[in-house]
Amino acid sequence: MTTIIVIILAYLIGSIPSGLWIGQLFYKTDIRQQGSGNLGATNTFRILGKKAGAVVTVMDILKGTLATLLTTFALLSNSNIHPLIAGVIAVVGHMFPIFAKFKGGKAVATSAGVLLGYHWPIFILLLVAFLICLKICKMVSLSSMITAVLAFVYSIVYAIIDQEYYLLIITALLAFFVIYRHRTNITRIKNGTEPKITWI
Ligand code: G3P
Repeated sequence: MTTIIVIILAYLIGSIPSGLWIGQLFYKTDIRQQGSGNLGATNTFRILGKKAGAVVTVMDILKGTLATLLTTFALLSNSNIHPLIAGVIAVVGHMFPIFAKFKGGKAVATSAGVLLGYHWPIFILLLVAFLICLKICKMVSLSSMITAVLAFVYSIVYAIIDQEYYLLIITALLAFFVIYRHRTNITRIKNGTEPKITWI
């Protein structure tokens, strides 16, 4: 029973459409109608500005972290679910949110939050890698995809050193989610029409 509660909670946490709700509540704007139409942090930055973008980034990251840490709460500690699986369920919720007609984000920030909750050093390394990529290419989408692949590469090394195979499997899955959800961005990158940011 506790396992089912963790699964449902993880999905509901992941389903919180931060960008959509912040936009509707404080800016009277539906970010799905503007920019890329995505309800993730990048489009929030684009449409609502830095303050809202930063808040949504943190909220989307924390969704993954909280879901990954659910099994550490006393009442849920006897569940049979691995923390990373709970995290992945939150990412699925983020991509297919029950609170936004199942049309959600591209898995980046919430996946990062999962890694933060499970193994924080990988989060720090990936954050640095992401910022370096962003500084060079100025495209959040491309930087996100490169960082997702780097997470998998890190996990290969970690698996060799520490026999941590769960992280390896989960980072492979998260990288797949991130790249698959960026299909339209990949087309735009190929066509040279992907928007670039100017503030980094
Ligand atoms: O996190 C999503 C980002 O990588 C791309 O978002 O709005 O430019 O499609 P967007």
